[in-house]
Amino acid sequence: MPVSIENLRKFVAPEIIFGNGSRHLAGEYCKKFYIQTPMIVTDPGVIAAGWADQVKQSLLDHGIEPVMFSDVTPNPRDHEVMEGTRQYLDAGCDAIIAVGGGSPMDCAKGMGIVASNKGHILDYEGVDQISAPLPPMIFIPTTAGTSADVSQFCIINNTGEKVKIAIISKIVIPDIALIDPETTTTMDPYLTACTGMDAMAHAIEAFVSTASSKMTDIHALEALRLLNTHLPKITTAPDDMELRENIMLASMEAGLAFSNAVLGAVHAMAHSLGGLLDLPHGECNSLLLEHVVNFNFDSAPEKFIVIAQTLGVHTRGLTQVQIKLALFEKIRSLRFHLGISKSLGLVNVRAQDIPHLSEKALNDACLLTNPRDANKRDIQVIYEEAL
Ligand SMILES: [Fe+2]
Repeated sequence: MPVSIENLRKFVAPEIIFGNGSRHLAGEYCKKFYIQTPMIVTDPGVIAAGWADQVKQSLLDHGIEPVMFSDVTPNPRDHEVMEGTRQYLDAGCDAIIAVGGGSPMDCAKGMGIVASNKGHILDYEGVDQISAPLPPMIFIPTTAGTSADVSQFCIINNTGEKVKIAIISKIVIPDIALIDPETTTTMDPYLTACTGMDAMAHAIEAFVSTASSKMTDIHALEALRLLNTHLPKITTAPDDMELRENIMLASMEAGLAFSNAVLGAVHAMAHSLGGLLDLPHGECNSLLLEHVVNFNFDSAPEKFIVIAQTLGVHTRGLTQVQIKLALFEKIRSLRFHLGISKSLGLVNVRAQDIPHLSEKALNDACLLTNPRDANKRDIQVIYEEAL
């Protein structure tokens, strides 16, 4: 009997070990995989916070001496991936351990791609362009938002074109994600806010994505529920470990959702901003989210009403237009509460940048699953509204 593939959905995820202290299992997993010379990919901030050294110690405790690579900047660049790969191959490494936020994790994925597939990292832009499997990859996220540790996405800054490229393949999902909420305690309040809003953008975009399914909706809605309950409280209780655990769990749930349902216009537009102006990813998403939700709402009202309800908006008796406005205000007030009170204009986006930004966003793979078709003028208007 013929199978209608439009009705089929795939769900992929790494092996996940979630919980405080899971970072200390890095050495044990390397031993299990017969890894001899792993490269730890991290950044100076994560080294200063002490997390990279703790992971290194876990390896040393198992007789494994790692090679370190930390020349990674925010919005990881193509040349950083290529230099990291060169050092990886020169040192005869046989596995990659990423310790950090989205930047070291994406750089580590890029290095794994080039180490196994050769060529240049920019050769692999797009969906399913990678053929050879990556070396063993063990990821330890130290922010609660990006979820590169569970996702099929690798985002790299093409410095020549000043645009971020998306590499999407199940091959870039790490083998092991050691998700340890304790590592998020060294994030400052603004990074906590921006990464938390990134997780919210993941959950919302995945839930309304044209590639969403019941399997991804479960994770997207649970992420939203957890974020709504716990994220606002972090401003007054940044050291509350239970809050940190719940926000990390929300990030993981949102990551599983978007990895399998893909994203939408928020991320397409944020990638464009990050590539041109080198702005932090979470901040870009935060400043765009309410405006994109406003643009998309009428294309999937039944789903956005569920989102509004999950975020605690009282929808009873309200018209669709009123719910749209209430959801806009809810998201906006949440980011203001978290301390993200700027607009794009206040982070140095200029009106004359918008045509170029829109052109780049229009070519981003994330736009393909946005619930509402968007042309260049639509994208321009959203940027203008967020200015
Ligand atoms: Fe994101």
